[in-house]
Formats: sequence, C-alpha cells, structure tokens
Amino acid sequence: MIERETMGKRVLVIHGPNLNMLGKREPSIYGDKDLNGINSMIEEKARELGLTVTIRQSNHEGEIVEIIHSAPSVADVVIINPGAYTHTSIAIRDAFLCVNLPVIETHLSNIHKREQFRRHSYIADIAVGSVMGFGPKSYELALTAAASL
Ligand code: DQA
Repeated sequence: MIERETMGKRVLVIHGPNLNMLGKREPSIYGDKDLNGINSMIEEKARELGLTVTIRQSNHEGEIVEIIHSAPSVADVVIINPGAYTHTSIAIRDAFLCVNLPVIETHLSNIHKREQFRRHSYIADIAVGSVMGFGPKSYELALTAAASL
C-alpha cells in the first residue's frame, strides 16, 4: 500500500504595533484595507499554497518577544511585520536569535523610500529576506517565499 500525506508547512504571521489600525491609519501610505481584510487575504493565499497559517497581532514589544519564543511549537517559518519596532527593537531581533526559525521581514510600505529613521531595520540582516512596498500584497509575496523555503 502506498500512503501519501501532505502536511502543510506551518507559517506564523506576526503583525506588530499599530497594524490593528490599518484602514484608518494614514491610508495614503498604508491603503484603506483593514487588518481583518488583510488577514482574509493571508488565509486565502495560504490555502492556495497549501500552508497552515497562524496569525497574531500585538502592540506590545514583550508580548511579541514571547510570541516568537513559542513560535517553534506552531510554525516552521515566521513572517513578521514588526511595525515601528523594526527600527528600534533589539529585543525582537534577539528573540529571533533564540529560536531557530527562518524569518521573512514584511512591510506594506517601502521603508527605504520614507524618512531616514525608517531605513534601518534590526531584523533585515537576520531575515532570510525582506518583502516591502507592495501594500497588502507584500504578505502574499512573503507567503509565496515561505512556501518555497
Ligand atoms: C511598516 C513600516 C514601519 O516603518 C511603520 O512604523 C509601520 C508599518 C509597514 O508595514 O510599512 O508601522 O512596518
């Protein structure tokens, strides 16, 4: 008897601070889709790619650190949009270095086209890669990348 089983790769998507305000928040930069809409896109793309996806959002640095610490029990790959913590958080960087999981940095906007202070990322050099500048599609592209790892 031949038995085949397809186990979807497990992807954890973490949205950082202020991303719960999408839709209302600076729509000229981030668009008018709210986080619920983006999460539905993520779930649909994950289904299409055969991925199992878990999605979390937090406005708190320490909580994001704890989500990353427990990521290995729910994920094989992490996609994170750390929001403003991208540019400030050594703690989030160090949390990724505590767990041995590939991470894909994701942003709605192109952080290199904006203010100088957004150009530095504490995640970029420990990430497998970064996707940015494509609005909500950045998450779909990141999921495609996650599927191909
Ligand atoms: C962001 C870019 C960050 O600079 C900003 O602080 C955010 C959103 C993005 O998705 O474009 O909160 O991560």
